[in-house]
Amino acid sequence: MCGIIGYIGHREALPILMQGLKKLEYRGYDSAGVAILNKENNIEIQKCKGRIKYLEDMVREKDLKGTIGLGHTRWATHGKPNDINAHPHFSGDHETVVVHNGIIENYLSIKENLILNGYQFISDTDTEVLPHLIQSLYQGNITEAVRNSLKIVTGSYALGVISKKEPDKIVASRSGSPLVIGIGDQEMFIASDIPALLNYTRKMIFLEENEIATIEKNCIHVVNLEGEEIKKKVVYIDWDAQMAEKSGYKHFMLKEIIQQPLVIRDNLVKYIDSGRVNLSDIHLPQNIVNSLEKIHIVACGTAYYASLVGKYAIESLSGIPVEVDYASEFRYRTQLLSKNSLGIVISQSGETADTIAAMRSCKNQVYSELAIVNVKGSTISREADQVMYINAGPEIGVASTKAFMGQLISLYLFAIFLGKAKKQLSGQNEEKILNEMMRIPHHMETIFSQDDKIKSIANQFSNYQHFLYLGRDINFPIALEGALKLKEISYIHAEAYPAGEMKHGPIALLDVNFPVVAIVPRDHVYHKMINNIKEVTTRDAPVIAVASESDEQIKEIVDKVIYIPDVQTILSPLLSVVPLQLLAYHIADILGKDVDKPRNLAKSVTVE
Ligand code: M6R
Repeated sequence: MCGIIGYIGHREALPILMQGLKKLEYRGYDSAGVAILNKENNIEIQKCKGRIKYLEDMVREKDLKGTIGLGHTRWATHGKPNDINAHPHFSGDHETVVVHNGIIENYLSIKENLILNGYQFISDTDTEVLPHLIQSLYQGNITEAVRNSLKIVTGSYALGVISKKEPDKIVASRSGSPLVIGIGDQEMFIASDIPALLNYTRKMIFLEENEIATIEKNCIHVVNLEGEEIKKKVVYIDWDAQMAEKSGYKHFMLKEIIQQPLVIRDNLVKYIDSGRVNLSDIHLPQNIVNSLEKIHIVACGTAYYASLVGKYAIESLSGIPVEVDYASEFRYRTQLLSKNSLGIVISQSGETADTIAAMRSCKNQVYSELAIVNVKGSTISREADQVMYINAGPEIGVASTKAFMGQLISLYLFAIFLGKAKKQLSGQNEEKILNEMMRIPHHMETIFSQDDKIKSIANQFSNYQHFLYLGRDINFPIALEGALKLKEISYIHAEAYPAGEMKHGPIALLDVNFPVVAIVPRDHVYHKMINNIKEVTTRDAPVIAVASESDEQIKEIVDKVIYIPDVQTILSPLLSVVPLQLLAYHIADILGKDVDKPRNLAKSVTVE
């Protein structure tokens, strides 16, 4: 949802801003712009509709020189994507510029007031109220003008401000949208996420809600909305710049699919000690575990589907009932929570607005809130009572893959931990599951070795307009995830159903033009799935099956089979999702879609 980058230091700002924008492009890509404060103390803005490459062509022609600047890549909320609505936005006197990520919810009333006072608006954005407001409240101190403006606005924001009135500063603030400050040697940076800064520094400061930072090239001063000084901790980030590069892969999504065995290994190394799950960072005393009545999980998108797999795993290994909600629904519904329950929020970015709101809405109503998160320093990781990191490294592709894998493995480990604590899972069974988990990375390689076959299936199926994904039990959420992957990157309509539900409606859709992807490992519902597949083939719909290696019959009844190694049912999602990710990837690539940056989407949804 928009990317922000800012630089102040001794180097030319433009190349740093452009490189940062390219790294942030996944957050929004309908327009982009930069503002540079030049040596003559004028602010020059260049901005245009479309991808960063258009901005790149535009700035190549200009002589934009200066060591202070801001950049922005937009995902439009208020105002169509066009040159004028692109950020940065000027104040009326052209002395101050603002880049903003988020939504100023009361912008209409602020705008009306400003217009009454003679301010003229040129864009349709909510953001434009900010530079005018800052101008109207300026009394010799830019930080104070920003602080007083932020007291008036409601909504969400991460913003960067530069002003020729005080040309040696960037003022930055956030509330509800992410912003990180990078500390270099005689230079400072701001950005919407960590990977955008990894080429320059790994020393970061994370602003809390409503904190305002005044950033000079060699110092940072932070105050809260009341103007009180805040001491900030510098956090050292252990990701490196290479982790955020494509490393020879055609797309980040493909690289991230292939990295999944590594994600599993890293988590097993971190959370298994002497053959036992060791979640020493999680504080759940035995008396609390004994009295746990329920677990509530909230998440969005792919993280929500991982939560559904987690429900099956936790319920079957520990016997504790689990309720899973979309964060966007949970935050507004009647919440029947108790201190004998545990809250879990799952988010790759840790910045999803609905997930943050859902987490805040049940603060202090449950025993504890545990966040299962990827991005260190993110809002969710800072605000939750406890954190379990999924150790997936930076995920750049908008379609989540390796983070899903990290979420699954974390949920399995947590389920085992609870199962042991509840005395529902014996040490022997724990060992059996862990031993099998350790072989999953190797099993994944055997799926990757079928990539040519998956590509050829993708070729044959890329022209269909609709797909139905079917699964049962713990593989039903994988059908949901497979369908989401296909629709978000290829724009082909896909929906998922629990296979047993098919005959209650969706079966009416099926004919020779409506392929079905069936997840059919050899498990306790295998024969039920086979019956459902027969119901499909009887209606002439083509079937692609994801089936167990040991299943010799399946090829006789379906059109195509992608085999996954046989593993115990509970762990099968770790493997069954991989062919679905690859199938979606290849179909989208064959169709020439922008796999890493699908239309209308953004990597982290930081607005409601
Ligand atoms: O960062 P989060 O895990 O909170 O993001 C949640 C969803 O926005 C995300 O999973 C989205 O659905 C992905 N595009 C799915 O590939």
